[in-house]
Amino acid sequence: MKLAVLVSGGGTNLEAILTAIEEGKITNATVEVVISNKKDAYALERAKNHGIEGIYLSPKDYENRSQFGNALVHELQKRNVDLIVLAGYLVILPKELIHAYENRMINIHPSLIPSFCGKGFYGLKVHEEVLERGCKVTGATVHFVDEGTDTGPIILQRAVEVLEGDTPEILQKRVMEQAEWSILPEAIHLIANQKIRVEDGHVITVRGEQA
Ligand code: GRF
Repeated sequence: MKLAVLVSGGGTNLEAILTAIEEGKITNATVEVVISNKKDAYALERAKNHGIEGIYLSPKDYENRSQFGNALVHELQKRNVDLIVLAGYLVILPKELIHAYENRMINIHPSLIPSFCGKGFYGLKVHEEVLERGCKVTGATVHFVDEGTDTGPIILQRAVEVLEGDTPEILQKRVMEQAEWSILPEAIHLIANQKIRVEDGHVITVRGEQA
């Protein structure tokens, strides 16, 4: 299965995916390209360090969103990408792309959806709200991408404890270390090995040998 990973920032989730492939924790998958809307995203540096092609593509360089969408689809289709992975990608995706990759595009969100998600809930803001609400548990979610914001079928989730004295930064790091960096590679591995089905908007995971 050919992957494209779309990034905007530090790329720690990208790193987790590349390492999981190199260690054989993800099988039947290769990252064909990393695409960022930020020229200076460290994620592009990480791609280079792993010998993966990294390209810059930003809506800012196009007349409108639809032209950007066409350019993005072109980059994906010329590489025969099967699955798009959004790993901290902060660009509103054109509808054409979402429809072209229905149930073939996944996103990692740093909360237990449907809590603390939707418009404006990204990065530290998510963890600030979790602490503000006084939650004792938070976590991360991998889901398929649909036209909404963080509303597609949920694939995997993992809970993470909120501890006394947590700051948003400390909590963000714990959610990444204990949840994001494991469930995103695991979701890719399951999809690459035909262990995931979507039925009536719900994800069925086939574990063990039966495929
Ligand atoms: C992560 O917190 C992820 O949950 C969110 O954006 C952040 C990306 O971080 N979608 P990185 O670029 O993978 O380090």
